[in-house]
Amino acid sequence: EKAGHSHYMHKEIHEQGMVLRTTLKGRISDGRVDLSKDLNWTQEDAQRWKKVHIIACGTSYYAALVAERVFERWTDLDIRVDIASEYRYRNLRCDPETLAIFVSQSGETADTIAAQRKARAEGAHCMAITNVRGSTLAREVHSILLLKAGPEIGVAATKTFTGQVAALFLSALYLGRLRGSMTADEEARLVNEFLQIPYKVENVLEKENEVIKLAQKYHDRQDFLFIGRGISFPVALEGALKLKEISYIHAEAYAAGEMKHGPIALLDEKVPVMAIIPRDMMYEKTLSNVLEAKARKAPVIGVCTEGDEHASKYMDDYVEVPWTDEEFSPFLTVIPLQLFAFHVAKILGKEIDQPRNLAKSVTVE
Ligand code: M6R
Repeated sequence: EKAGHSHYMHKEIHEQGMVLRTTLKGRISDGRVDLSKDLNWTQEDAQRWKKVHIIACGTSYYAALVAERVFERWTDLDIRVDIASEYRYRNLRCDPETLAIFVSQSGETADTIAAQRKARAEGAHCMAITNVRGSTLAREVHSILLLKAGPEIGVAATKTFTGQVAALFLSALYLGRLRGSMTADEEARLVNEFLQIPYKVENVLEKENEVIKLAQKYHDRQDFLFIGRGISFPVALEGALKLKEISYIHAEAYAAGEMKHGPIALLDEKVPVMAIIPRDMMYEKTLSNVLEAKARKAPVIGVCTEGDEHASKYMDDYVEVPWTDEEFSPFLTVIPLQLFAFHVAKILGKEIDQPRNLAKSVTVE
């Protein structure tokens, strides 16, 4: 059932083009996002909401952080993203003007379920984005957007991360449309690029051999720093989490601009920096942070946009991803990071699909 792959995680990484295609299928027509078959939202609901809270744990939380950047662009709502185990004990104003979105692959994460119950009791409209139709979370919410990722067996989430980001992006586009906060032209342009993403993801997957070489070169390091800015910051967080989970190597992620406020003290020639640096609004800024790392002799591995000779000059090693609109780059930049974690763990002989101390769904607080 691993379909010729050595591990479930590897199979699931390679399914991401297909997962994205299935997630988009039937939800886009004539250049517009239409979720009316999935969500029971009325135009009045969409007009009533003033706030969006997105709540999740782990990788699902990082998917939410990616989506935060597009909700703030594509909708006119106040957006707030939190970790479920924090949200449930906070006093954030949550009320009937709030759309609360709970993101959980399994739909069984105890903290996410508890946070949902709290938001629901406070009168929010609660929506789930989940991969499991009959899960506890799915049964309790007002509306559901199902991922169609197929079962994910590897404990490290991969295809459900990209699937969740896609589902959240669809929700943001649909909300933007219902609230009239986005022009039809803008929507058509974004939808057009969105439809190209599955192909571009497959293009990145073809670079696996390049990533294997990186894993061979760097697998014996003790510490890694992942950096990114803007929409690439949560990608850095996710890349570091993947590496920690399955290879047990210490990896931290920072918004690149924060490096000089502390973590740069860790850097020397022994600590590689993984820089997520697509050609976007933050490109020059991230590049100057890369130079700061280089000045401390840290080896820098870049995840760059194809043909970016300027950035690659400063990198010790790099992997290129195809160009896309800035909002969609996480779908592409996360792939080399997933593959890197996988191959480092494989070289180190770790239990990739069943890492120590971890369970696929965390049903206790
Ligand atoms: O099923 P959920 O999406 O609610 O799970 C949340 C986290 O436990 C999960 O993403 C965890 O961080 C993964 N092991 C990440 O690879």
